[in-house]
Amino acid sequence: MQIDVVREPKLSRIDHLFVLLAEGKVDVALPESVQKALRDAKFEGRADESITVLGTAPRKLTLIGLGKHEALTHRGVRAAITAAGRIGKKHRDANIALLFPYSLPGLDESQTALAVADALAQSDYKYDPFITVKKEQKRIAMHGSVIAPGVDAKKLTATARAMSEAIQTVRDLGNAPPNVITPSELASKAQEMAKRVGVKCTVHNKRDIVRLKMGGLLAVNRGSVEEPRFVVLEYAPPKAKKHVALVGKGITFDSGGISLKPAEKMEEMKFDMCGAAAVIGIVEAAAKLKLPVKVTGIFVTTDNVPSGSAYKPSEIITMMSGKTVEVVNTDAEGRMILADALHYASSLKPDHILDYATLTGACVVALGGEAAGLFSNNDELAQKLIESGERVGERLWRMPAWDEYKELIRSEWADMKNSGGRWGGAITAAVFLKEFVDCPSWAHLDIAGTAYAECETPREARGANGAGVRVTIDFLRSL
Ligand code: BES
Ligand code: MN
Ligand code: ZN
Repeated sequence: MQIDVVREPKLSRIDHLFVLLAEGKVDVALPESVQKALRDAKFEGRADESITVLGTAPRKLTLIGLGKHEALTHRGVRAAITAAGRIGKKHRDANIALLFPYSLPGLDESQTALAVADALAQSDYKYDPFITVKKEQKRIAMHGSVIAPGVDAKKLTATARAMSEAIQTVRDLGNAPPNVITPSELASKAQEMAKRVGVKCTVHNKRDIVRLKMGGLLAVNRGSVEEPRFVVLEYAPPKAKKHVALVGKGITFDSGGISLKPAEKMEEMKFDMCGAAAVIGIVEAAAKLKLPVKVTGIFVTTDNVPSGSAYKPSEIITMMSGKTVEVVNTDAEGRMILADALHYASSLKPDHILDYATLTGACVVALGGEAAGLFSNNDELAQKLIESGERVGERLWRMPAWDEYKELIRSEWADMKNSGGRWGGAITAAVFLKEFVDCPSWAHLDIAGTAYAECETPREARGANGAGVRVTIDFLRSL
């Protein structure tokens, strides 16, 4: 929904006001009408408590309990805000307002207001361009006001909107079906975004990719009727002191190729371009927010499908860097394409390289959907990213990328093989990527478990959720 941050709500214009209250701390400054409702209902703020009362200004008031104040978490509060947005949507309220009268752990009032605005902006999201028979009557356009008395409301409104638009870009791209978002279409979407926000965008087609000798990308693409694309976005503000390169995995559909995946849940593999989508969204946000950092957004995109021309297990591929890879599993395609992109990114000599990829099922086995796997060759960078993640409620959990694991991808016939088998699957994938990184400050985010929700949760809608944008923007701000 469209969002703004206001210091004082015009209650007479609001259809539905939501007030989030924590147990043991309902005694905060609240409008008189809210205080009255609170007393009448003996509302205590327990996690399972929620009441709605009718009035005049606002016309409806809903109190939502958050549970114990000491136990408030970023993600818990996000779920309560999502609940508020969903109730408003069900009620068909055009103008809602939300008051969260506390600060989130570790955040000041402005940062809290931004987090609240972010959660509210995304709360009514649904990917519906292909629903032709709308079940409900026509959808209404919702507007949400976040009430934050002590902040620079105008500035925060602009920031909140930039973030919400970028996150929505990532969600829409991720959720789009693979017959719509083909590699060339994904490149066009990046180009459109670049035009909109005024950043440079170079789209390399297959001829260019052959000329660049991107052997990994070309191998994965060989089974497809769709051409691959290699895209470079450049946001270069005049006074930038630091340069960060972002790299994204853009497999528009991952069938596994000749090493075909089982049919069950294969449809989820339309989300295998969420890394590339994240890169597009991060560049969009960085440009809209005018961050004083140079950001190069790079993604490689193809689908991974079987055919007579598809790459096969036992093939040996010479990558862009010159290193050779024995293919033992065509389903380990993400690292094949990322290797070339990481090599390219390294050649730009940025201060940091961050990559985003729905890379391994093993990472999902390890961490589920609560944290992305973080791998890095630099402790300081890893620590900064983890801290950014904590601040914005997008958790990263570090796993090792020690050289000892290289043994598992050792090949008899080539410099390495593209899969180390089941054990430590997320780690051997990271260690493979590391072979193509020439940068002392690199981090790999395995977002296989966090980029999309398999089903609706209290916190988010089913499908792509914009993973990567919040944590990266916070990190870029911290430079
Ligand atoms: N895109 C998948 C990883 C994935 C799995 C993402 C589940 C989201 C949910 C990736 O290309 C893949 O197939 N990885 C293999 C690697 C293996 C063959 C070494 C895997 O994880 O099984
Ligand atoms: Mn795969
Ligand atoms: Zn994949």
